[in-house]
Amino acid sequence: MFKRNTIGRRILLIFTFIVLTGSLLQLLISGSQIQDAIFEFHLHAMETEALIASSQLGARGGDGDEEDRLPQPTAWLPANLRYEYYVVDPLLRVIATSDDDLAVGTQVTPTEEIREAQREAIGRSIRDRHFYVAAPIGGGERGTGFLVFYEPADSAYAETGQRWLQLILSTVPVLGLVVIASLWISRTIARPIRALENTALQMADGAFDARIDVHSDDEIGRLGRSFNYMAEQLSALLRSQREFISNAAHELRTPLMTFKLRIEALGNPDQDPAERATYLRELNEQVDHMASLVSSLLILARIDESRHPLNVEPYDSTALLHDVTRHWRIEAQRAKLGFETDIPANLPDIPVAANDLWMVLDNLFSNAIKYTLEGKIAFAAWHSGGQVVLQVTDTGRGYSTEEGQQIFTRFFRTADVRADEISGTGLGLAIVQSIVALYDGRVEAHSAGIGQGSQFTVTLPLKRA
Ligand SMILES: Nc1ncnc2c1ncn2[C@@H]1O[C@H](COP(=O)(O)OP(=O)(O)O)[C@@H](O)[C@H]1O
Ligand SMILES: [Mg+2]
Repeated sequence: MFKRNTIGRRILLIFTFIVLTGSLLQLLISGSQIQDAIFEFHLHAMETEALIASSQLGARGGDGDEEDRLPQPTAWLPANLRYEYYVVDPLLRVIATSDDDLAVGTQVTPTEEIREAQREAIGRSIRDRHFYVAAPIGGGERGTGFLVFYEPADSAYAETGQRWLQLILSTVPVLGLVVIASLWISRTIARPIRALENTALQMADGAFDARIDVHSDDEIGRLGRSFNYMAEQLSALLRSQREFISNAAHELRTPLMTFKLRIEALGNPDQDPAERATYLRELNEQVDHMASLVSSLLILARIDESRHPLNVEPYDSTALLHDVTRHWRIEAQRAKLGFETDIPANLPDIPVAANDLWMVLDNLFSNAIKYTLEGKIAFAAWHSGGQVVLQVTDTGRGYSTEEGQQIFTRFFRTADVRADEISGTGLGLAIVQSIVALYDGRVEAHSAGIGQGSQFTVTLPLKRA
């Protein structure tokens, strides 16, 4: 029923051990108390009889008869006496006995009960499986000899044995209950654990939708729930990784198709030189696109595998903000957009590697310019409550609330951006989010709606958690 090394087996062993030791102690205590009571009952009855008989004997014996002569036993012994007896004089010589093996005149040794009777009004002992009681003749007067009653203790021992047996037998149902309880406990503990084991193994074999049925609210139930939660997170992660790979493959295939078509066309010697130039330009653009796609994928892969270096070598981050904005001001002017900056002079150093700060800002500014047809771009930086905030605001396309929920998802691009075929990979904001998270910061996007402009706010703690 219990295989080796199972919780159930251990519970059964522990329970049985506890119950057995408990019962054994109980058995020893109550068993010896019962034995004492039975023996006391026998000895007490004997003592009463011995005292009565010895006082009768003393009364008859002191009648002025010859010293050693005793009255007939019938005169002082009760008629239906159950015990053997003998009477000794003060020198412990037998003067009367019911025992044929004990001759009159024999000198007896002072046994335990006689010695006790010499000191007190009555003596008793249990030896050689017999009860002995000795009473001084004449009920207390010393120097007159002793009457000794004795009887085999067999019946008392038999009775005790029976009581012992009853006690032992009464522990059997308790042991049965222990086995049942152990089975029940091991079921409620071991069964869900086995279910957990099976589900884990199923998941290891690729069944990522395997879940555990949770029935209880105790530790085991909570373990099951945590396991299911872990499984949920794992499958979500796996799903997103698979989607990511298939998206990446898809994004790489499109430019490759263009490559193939254009190269075929360029191979035609009759190709119009003007068209040839266009195709070459297109090829060049596709190569750039692929290069940027691949480098974005590499950055994300490095961050995902925690291989992105976080070396924060000291540098002047305020100067870096000025450098970046100087560059993007020129780009904005080229796109005929206004450009405003607000960088306070007392901004504390931002604890983010220079490369990473560049990457974050480049992505936000390039988006702002790409997705703004007219109006202006504004950049503001400030610090408060141990945090530095960097904010890029534009008056551009904006996006809808639903789109806003996916804007940081890898490869996501809003419908109108796709429709207008604006160049891009859909990985820029995902990279921004991953980098900012590396520094325990966060990035939030806001837009009042399509055509309403948008705002990206990066918050970075000055001290890492
Ligand atoms: N400043 C912005 N204004 C409007 N939409 C934006 C802005 N920045 C990003 N988006 C939307 O989010 C999408 C994802 O941005 P991003 O991850 O940088 O990818 P990409 O710029 O390569 O398309 C963009 O395609 C665009 O639809
Ligand atoms: Mg972008």
